[in-house]
Amino acid sequence: MEYRSLGRTGLTTSALGWGTVKLGRNIDVKYPASFDLPSDQEACDIVLAMLDLGITLIDTAPAYGLSESRLGIALANRRQEVVLSSKVGEQFQDGRSHFDFTGAAARRSVEASLRRLGTDHLDILLIHSDGRDEWIQRETDLIETLKSIKAEGKTRAIGLSGKTPEGAGLALAWADVLMCPWHPLDRSHESVMASARSTGLGVLAKKVLASGHAADPQSALKESMSHADAAVIGSLSPTRMHANCGVLESPESEPRLGDH
Ligand SMILES: NC(=O)c1ccc[n+]([C@@H]2O[C@H](COP(=O)([O-])OP(=O)(O)OC[C@H]3O[C@@H](n4cnc5c(N)ncnc54)[C@H](OP(=O)(O)O)[C@@H]3O)[C@@H](O)[C@H]2O)c1
Repeated sequence: MEYRSLGRTGLTTSALGWGTVKLGRNIDVKYPASFDLPSDQEACDIVLAMLDLGITLIDTAPAYGLSESRLGIALANRRQEVVLSSKVGEQFQDGRSHFDFTGAAARRSVEASLRRLGTDHLDILLIHSDGRDEWIQRETDLIETLKSIKAEGKTRAIGLSGKTPEGAGLALAWADVLMCPWHPLDRSHESVMASARSTGLGVLAKKVLASGHAADPQSALKESMSHADAAVIGSLSPTRMHANCGVLESPESEPRLGDH
């Protein structure tokens, strides 16, 4: 497994990160096929198997249903091995998403995330945008609140998981980390991802396999390494993630652009 510095955050993560939507939520998601959530025991086994592959970046969110609480149980003795990323702005309650981008809601959300995850700090805290990337950053008190949460030591890095290149562009001014959608048929963020990397932000690619719709997952995964410090791939299958690790380790993997 290759490990990379995440911009200038001081964090180092595996180049292959793990996205945990499927660990806790199977309603109103965009995967090609419906699926059953794993049982509690299966979820714990999956988390530990992902760690055993050498994956050290785990992305979760309150919006991912049971994901945070399941991670908290599984990571009880292994929290220090992982870079944990979670989010604020979206909650999943009564089978649907609810959005609140106020600073007050973010504070409540982070405290609840810390409780569920069984930790006193996150490593990365991202705005979980609903698409109003620019409005959230311009018209709410969320950025100032994220800065305060970071200053209090409750997260090491802050940033945006957004949907638009314009929103990501605004976040260059204050974020430590950008999580951007990237796959071969959605190159809309490539330019802002390059700007972010060149100015020392950590860059994470999400939806690299087009949420499972990608025609050629191997080439998508390989190429993502040229655009981001790490690719966050969703899966419930350690076997598949092992294969994804192998793809990144193969000699013909795309060279990375920067080494920061
Ligand atoms: N707004 C946000 O902040 C936001 C939005 C989207 C995503 N994310 C983050 O990014 C993560 C990744 O996004 P995503 O889960 O939507 O999509 P993704 O990583 O593009 O695709 C995941 C899907 O691809 C399948 N898959 C994994 N490896 C594969 C392979 N080698 N060949 C074929 N299929 C493969 C997985 O199925 P199996 O389970 O069968 O392996 C899963 O259904 C999320 O889990 C989340 O952490 C954040």
